[in-house]
Amino acid sequence: MTTLLDGKAFAARIRAEVAEEVKTFRAQYGRVPGLAAVLVGGDPASRLYVAGKVKACDEVGMVSKKVDRPADLTREGLFQLVDDLNHDPEIDGFIVQLPLPAHLPERDILERIDPDKDADGFHPSNVGRLWLDRPGFAPATPFGVIRLLKDHLHSLGDSLAGKSAVIVGRSSIVGKPMAALLVRESATVTIAHSKTKDLPEVCRRADILVAAVGRPGLIGPEHVRPGAIVIDVGINRVADRATVERLFPNDEKKLAALAKNGSVVVGDVDFNRVAEIAGAITPVPGGVGPLTIAMLLANTLEAAKRREARG
Ligand code: GUN
Repeated sequence: MTTLLDGKAFAARIRAEVAEEVKTFRAQYGRVPGLAAVLVGGDPASRLYVAGKVKACDEVGMVSKKVDRPADLTREGLFQLVDDLNHDPEIDGFIVQLPLPAHLPERDILERIDPDKDADGFHPSNVGRLWLDRPGFAPATPFGVIRLLKDHLHSLGDSLAGKSAVIVGRSSIVGKPMAALLVRESATVTIAHSKTKDLPEVCRRADILVAAVGRPGLIGPEHVRPGAIVIDVGINRVADRATVERLFPNDEKKLAALAKNGSVVVGDVDFNRVAEIAGAITPVPGGVGPLTIAMLLANTLEAAKRREARG
């Protein structure tokens, strides 16, 4: 029997926990934690993500601030904005939504963020702290995946220790921090990527397979050992009818959605074929996506607590 890992329900649980802790925080400190999200020239997908983050913040009782700037914002203008948020007493954590317009130096901007307010965990100090097992902030998506994996394995009386984990994708946002977090849990970790030889063979070694490459339906049954846990981090918009028909054979609903919206959202895993052999699998949508927002809130709450502890 394959278990469907319901990220949406799990994220709701985390948000409820955060909301409770926000109440306690407010009673203790007479204020609520605050998150800001910076959007520059927002392409439609980024706009949607930021709106989701701000809404979730409001729902758990935190202060939220959306800082929306046009695509022609200068590098100095964005530096100034980051400096202002670094010093804003209402804001405990903030993020600069990626990708940024090409003329803005992404790395320099991320490095300008105060590491103690870096709710995304993208600053080099937090990357280092993560690998050194020091208190810092872990990127929300892999942090959420770890919580989901631990919860699922715990329900089976099992843990991540000693498991073979294969991550497909070496991005700074997901693949690399995912590896750090899995190593911290004593898993044996392989990072595979576009140059990996015989990807299916490498993936079949996995007890836990995490796909984070941004290639619709790349991971098929030939990549999966029967019974493995499969985590799909991919969020791909597919507009090509042949690809939709290949991934969702005889699925009238998907074809209707394609006709209506011009595209459908597809993960990196060929869900229908892989679900037949996996032990557990996350769907797209409704899997990892909602967890990212929930963990961003958890990071902001943590940032606020640490700030109060520092005084
Ligand atoms: N773009 C895609 N994912 C993310 C994320 O987790 N944080 C930010 N800031 N931008 C993103």
